[in-house]
Amino acid sequence: MKIFTNKTELQQYVSELHLAGKTVGFVPTMGALHQGHLSLLAQAKQQTDITVCSIFVNPTQFNDPKDLERYPRPIEADIAKLQQAGCHVLFNPPVTEMYADNEHWHLDIGDLEHLLEGKFRPGHYQGVMQVVHKLFTIVKPDFAFFGQKDYQQVMVIGQMVTLMHLPVKLVMCPIEREPDGLAMSSRNIHLTESNHQHALVLSKALYQAKENFAAGQSIADIEQEAKKLIEQEPEMVLEYFEMVDGDTLHLATEQTHHVVALVAAKAGATRLIDNVIIR
Ligand code: PAJ
Repeated sequence: MKIFTNKTELQQYVSELHLAGKTVGFVPTMGALHQGHLSLLAQAKQQTDITVCSIFVNPTQFNDPKDLERYPRPIEADIAKLQQAGCHVLFNPPVTEMYADNEHWHLDIGDLEHLLEGKFRPGHYQGVMQVVHKLFTIVKPDFAFFGQKDYQQVMVIGQMVTLMHLPVKLVMCPIEREPDGLAMSSRNIHLTESNHQHALVLSKALYQAKENFAAGQSIADIEQEAKKLIEQEPEMVLEYFEMVDGDTLHLATEQTHHVVALVAAKAGATRLIDNVIIR
């Protein structure tokens, strides 16, 4: 695996591969890699000739400085995992390689930015778009792979790609879970054993919602039941549980064709998100 910390060198390397007719698949990450990240890489390897992974803990998308500070950065272990998974290129830049002082970024993506996660993490998606746009400009991937785990993030980046006419195809990959149902996340290492056990209520509530929807229960009742289940769980603080139209993120009705249930909650001090496609 080739490792770059310098954007110009990476750009040059990838453009030569492009000229040689190779397709490039890109998996952007913030590191602390787990099976979820590696499943995106596996998809990329299946669909493209050259896989580029980035590891960059992007400061502009953290609205809580403490969260940024304690974000795990096990770079040696990450490199070993990527090598073992057969990744071709790693881009691991320092912050100074990605940002100048006093940069500004804003792209109007309408209410996508203010719904769900947007309500609880103001500015987060502007930071995500800012860094992903930079990464796309450097890597110029043919395909970029994102996890359904961050469902709204995929929609936000899709909107940016559309509005800015970026020549990249996005691929959304399914959520990888622990055998007990907990969605894998780099933040899971902050969970105590007890937090982890209580956090299982999230996937349980989501799958229960799916069953209840299939059984014909109303959306209002399903949401109420799911919220109650999570709120009653010790160590859990619910932020939202919403069933929405998977294409707009507006509240779903019983007639909505494509329904997704999304949840965010704190397990102890750690904020977790999860979702399930209901229909
Ligand atoms: P990060 O949280 O490291 O996630 C990188 C990619 O892995 C995202 O596309 C995310 O949805 C996916 N992912 C995380 N957990 C997953 C799981 N359990 N199953 C499947 N995929 C999973 O998302 C980011 O980083 C950043 O916002 C980034 C896009 C890199 C911009 O900084």
